Formats: sequence, structure tokens, C-alpha cells
Amino acid sequence: MEKKQSSLSRRDFAKTSAAAGFAILASRSGRAQESAETLKIGLIGAGGRGCGAAVNCLTGNENVKLVALADVFEESVIKAKVNLERNNDPRVKDKLAIEDELCFSGLDAYQKLLETDVDIVIHATPPYCRPMHLEAIVEAGKHLFSEKPFAVDSPGIRRCLAAAKVADEKGLTFVTGLQRRYQDKYIETVKKLQDGAIGKILYGRAYWNGSLPFSHDREAGESDLAYRLRNWYNQIWTCGDSIVEQHVHNIDVINWVLDEYPTKVVANGGRAWKPAEEKYGDIWDNFACDYEYASGARMLSMSRHWNNSKSDVWERVVGTEKESTCGEMGRDRSDPYVNEHIAMLESIRGDRERINDGERTAYATLTAIMGREAAYTGQEVTWEQALNCEKSLVPADLDFEKEYPVGSIPVPGSE
Ligand SMILES: NC(=O)c1ccc[n+]([C@@H]2O[C@H](COP(=O)([O-])OP(=O)(O)OC[C@H]3O[C@@H](n4cnc5c(N)ncnc54)[C@H](O)[C@@H]3O)[C@@H](O)[C@H]2O)c1
Repeated sequence: MEKKQSSLSRRDFAKTSAAAGFAILASRSGRAQESAETLKIGLIGAGGRGCGAAVNCLTGNENVKLVALADVFEESVIKAKVNLERNNDPRVKDKLAIEDELCFSGLDAYQKLLETDVDIVIHATPPYCRPMHLEAIVEAGKHLFSEKPFAVDSPGIRRCLAAAKVADEKGLTFVTGLQRRYQDKYIETVKKLQDGAIGKILYGRAYWNGSLPFSHDREAGESDLAYRLRNWYNQIWTCGDSIVEQHVHNIDVINWVLDEYPTKVVANGGRAWKPAEEKYGDIWDNFACDYEYASGARMLSMSRHWNNSKSDVWERVVGTEKESTCGEMGRDRSDPYVNEHIAMLESIRGDRERINDGERTAYATLTAIMGREAAYTGQEVTWEQALNCEKSLVPADLDFEKEYPVGSIPVPGSE
């Protein structure tokens, strides 16, 4: 992670905010408590995780308030506002100040939100539009928390890498939702492993063997694009397939322990049981990848979405002396989903070194994309090939009047 820019101190921040004309209001002037240091938050992608992340951010921090919402669907914005305002936790409700005129919907909702004076953006759309949005967020000079994965294809990854650089140039804080990186157990364990606790690490094992994600039937009268976006977990162009969308968490942990990115991968996978119905889209339901690293280490990654099957979500590493877990989700007193937002605010306020998780999150996503492509094609894929690949999956012309039929289910050896 590069940390070329120094962060703004509290005093600098207040000065910069004032100079930039940010609203500095007397406390108790609105529902949310405000002070000279109150930072305004806007949420783009007001679904399940977006609202959860907003609550996490308000729960863990003082002098913040949620003021703006943006989502492609108006009903999602309305639902999010109603649900958030039902929250009775004083750590949350006293920091809610969502104004109707700061609630935006449509494909350009993100741009409208970025024209407001929010200081921080929480970004939690599905990944298909994340590269374009992250570019715009850093261009607008906002600090940000972004969910994973970053993109569904290599061109998208390159845009996110460029956005991470711009964040550095502008001194912006950029935290991402690979929450294991903000969980005490993982941080402690990974440090011990890197310090040689189990000898030289030979290989890692990363698993996300879970059950089926959601899938929706098309509603009467629903436009094609609206259906694709509502059913986003089932199309490769909207979610990147399960290895990218879900398994990126575990893959990132092994990259973290090894402190390097893989040089190449071979992989298997397929669609074991899903019938070719529109609601199941074109994604596969299982992947198994063998990654190789320059140090000679390897990663076995296994991910699947099958019902009534053994569930396994974890990461382990094997060293010359023994095997170890890398940490265990949910085994800490503190909540990593809250920790990541506390860290973000500390970084913005200059209470710690500025955080920019952009590059490593882009590379974690690329690691998953290269495994997916190796499986789809049946070919070995190198890091360089993955990084430079021109295959673009997201349609350039998203329009509610147009059709986006489900693509063909990938067949290894056919490309
Ligand atoms: N870190 C974690 O543990 C974790 C957990 C859950 C989800 N996530 C991630 O969060 C993201 C969202 O997942 P979710 O479960 O909240 O999905 P969701 O469907 O509940 O919410 C996504 C929201 O984004 C909106 N959206 C789609 N396209 C948009 C666009 N162009 N502009 C604005 N809004 C748009 C949708 O309408 C929807 O309201 C995914 O990338 C997922 O991987 C991370």
C-alpha cells in the first residue's frame, strides 16, 4: 500500500472544510447533532449491505451524519430511508438527517449525490458499475468506503487501480469491505504467521462452500434492465460469478498471509445442477483453482453454491512445521463491520496514517477473476494475462428501454 500523501490533521480538516464551503452548523440545529467537525455521509446503492454499512458507520463514530441516498430504483431509496429511520439505537438515530431533496434515483443517481456537499461516500452497489462509480467518487474529492468485489472484468480492475492512485494524489481515505482485514483475530494471526509461527508457509487453502444465493423470477411489466439489476447475483456481467462476488474474501486472506499475488492459475468448475432457466442466469455454481506464487507457495481455492451440502467458509495455511487457521470470522468481541468504519474516520481525521485499500482490493478481485477465466476457458492464466485482458463484460449502453438477454453458460475449451 502506498502512503505518499500525509493525512490532514483535525485542525487542517476543519480549515479545509471551511475553505471549501462545507456547511458548518451550530449543534442541535437539526435532528442530527452537528459540530464544526461533523462529516456528511452519502450512500450509493441503498440495498441490504449499503444500509448495513451506513448503520455500522454511524454506530462506530461521533460527529458524522447520514444525509443523502442514491439508488438506481426509487423504491429502494424509499425503503432504505424508512428502514433506517426506524432504527431506535441512539448511536444511529441521532445521526440520521436524510433530506428528501438529497434522495436520488436512476442510473445517474450516483452523479447527483456526488454534486452534493457530502464528505464521505459509502458505495454498496453490485460490482458491475463499481469502476465507473469509484472513478467519479474520487474525481469529486470524496472519501470513501467501498464494498467488494471491485469489478467483474479486467478493464474494470484497471479503472479501479487508477481511481486508487487518484485517491492517493488527492489525499483521500479509501477503505474497502474486505472486513477480515479489520478483524482483530485475523490481524493478530496473520502477523504471527508472517513472523514464522508455523515455519515457512508452503500453501494456503481458501474455501467458500455455501448455499444458493438469491434468484428472482421476472415480474409482470418489469423492464429487462430492471430485472437484470434486481436479479444481479445470477448474471456474470452484474456479479462476476460466485468466485469473484463471494470467494474474493477468502482469496484476499491468502494473498495477505503470503504478502504476494499469484503468478498463474489452473482451474476447474461448472454448473452442476442448475437448469438453464432465466432466473439462474449464466453463472456457474462451483470452482476449484490451483494458484501458484513467485515464492513457490500455492493456494487451493474452492467455492460453490449448492444447497444441502457441507458448508465451509474459512482460510488455512500449511507451513513447514504445522497447519493453522488465518483467523476466524465472528470470533472477536469487536465487530469488523464497525471497525472498518472507525478506521475510516480515524484516517480522515488524521488520527492514524491515511488508509488506501484500493490497490489490494483491486488485486484481490483480479486474483478471483483470473481463477474464473482459467476455469471458464480450461487454460492456464497468468497474472499478466489477467491484468492486461481486454475482455469487457459490462454493456456500455445501460438503458431501461433496451434488452440484455442472459449470455450462454461458459463451456471450457470453447473460447
Ligand atoms: N463485505 C461483506 O461481507 C458483504 C456482505 C454483503 C454484501 N456485500 C457486497 O455489497 C454489494 C451489494 O450487496 P447487497 O447484498 O447489498 O445487494 P442488494 O441488492 O441488497 O443492494 C444493492 C443495491 O444497489 C442498487 N444498485 C444497483 N445498480 C445501481 C446503480 N447503477 N446505481 C445505484 N444503485 C444501484 C440496487 O438497486 C440495490 O438497492 C455487493 O457487491 C456485495 O458483494 C458485501
